[in-house]
Amino acid sequence: MKVDGRARRTIWREAGAQAVQVIDQRELPHRWRVQVLGTLEHACTAIAQMWVRGAPLIGVTAAYGMALQCVADASDEALGHARVLLDSTRPTAVNLAWATRRMHEALLPMAPAQRATAAWALADAMAEEDVAVNAAIGEHGLVVLRDRAAARRHDGAALQILTHCNAGWLAAVDWGTALAPIYRAHEAGLAVHVWVDETRPRNQGASLTAWELAQAGVPHTVIADNTGGHLMQRGQVDVVIVGADRVSARGDVCNKVGTYLKALAARDNDVPFYAAVPCSTLDLGIDDGVAGIPIEARSPREVTHISGRDAHGSIVEVQLTPDGSPALNVGFDVTPARLVSGLITERGVVSPSDVHLLGRMVSPQRPSR
Ligand code: MRU
Repeated sequence: MKVDGRARRTIWREAGAQAVQVIDQRELPHRWRVQVLGTLEHACTAIAQMWVRGAPLIGVTAAYGMALQCVADASDEALGHARVLLDSTRPTAVNLAWATRRMHEALLPMAPAQRATAAWALADAMAEEDVAVNAAIGEHGLVVLRDRAAARRHDGAALQILTHCNAGWLAAVDWGTALAPIYRAHEAGLAVHVWVDETRPRNQGASLTAWELAQAGVPHTVIADNTGGHLMQRGQVDVVIVGADRVSARGDVCNKVGTYLKALAARDNDVPFYAAVPCSTLDLGIDDGVAGIPIEARSPREVTHISGRDAHGSIVEVQLTPDGSPALNVGFDVTPARLVSGLITERGVVSPSDVHLLGRMVSPQRPSR
């Protein structure tokens, strides 16, 4: 996607470099900063501290983390250690473990001297694959949006789409998952308008999704997280599309906390609710997603404080809550399969009840984790 008219990706490697560069997402939309990741430790820090975030991008960053480890020490022991370290950076998005397992299993049969070159090549290939997968999600999702527009369009008015968190190109290498169909629709001339949930506490919607959509010229409006239900009751939402961090074998969708409440409101108002997911986000190792998917507990400070740009252009953090009030910061929630109308994947749109079939087709040997 383009930033100020220039094509960008979230992670890239200059030809022959033994390091990768990433957009540091912590201060977007107010400050553009690029960070160089030159060691395994840098990659772990970038994921854990959310310089990079979003399930697909976390996976690709972890793949490059394995390559960075190979440059320093490509022994069996070092690779195993790197995989454990990377997997421990964030617990919920399954793409992370999917990527490190894929790298580890490809590298182990090779002689250590060959591993660094092979690791860079595989990580580069995984980055390219992510772009292609998300582009395919965009094409399949475009059909969903066109159908919905045909069913709902009044007098050529824009199709009203609600999304939660950021599942745009910043959450992947390019295109994104939930936003890919929206970008394709916009390009194809289908009139769309996006309701952007602010997504407290880290405000990925207000900060990142709104910025992405603005850069692409897609009409959008940021709303407080609690607004969606009201809009749905008034007939002002035609479809909900979100991303996902993990989807269980029976089709339960884990995504940024607050997604479940949108799905409940959508069901109560007959609004279709879709999750856009690459197959690398399916986890056949867990059936009951509500009970089984590990949910990240994050710092209470993300709830008690908020940061933004002040009148002088400085990024500042201020306290919202009374001194001493405890806060709970749960990163994700799980929307049960029964509330999900469909999953938009790179292989097409599937019912949640078919996730196990799709997962087995894509990875016949075993579950993703
Ligand atoms: O905590 P984050 O920002 O890494 O959250 C992950 C997400 O971006 C969302 O849950 C997203 O909707 C799914 S990942 C494409």
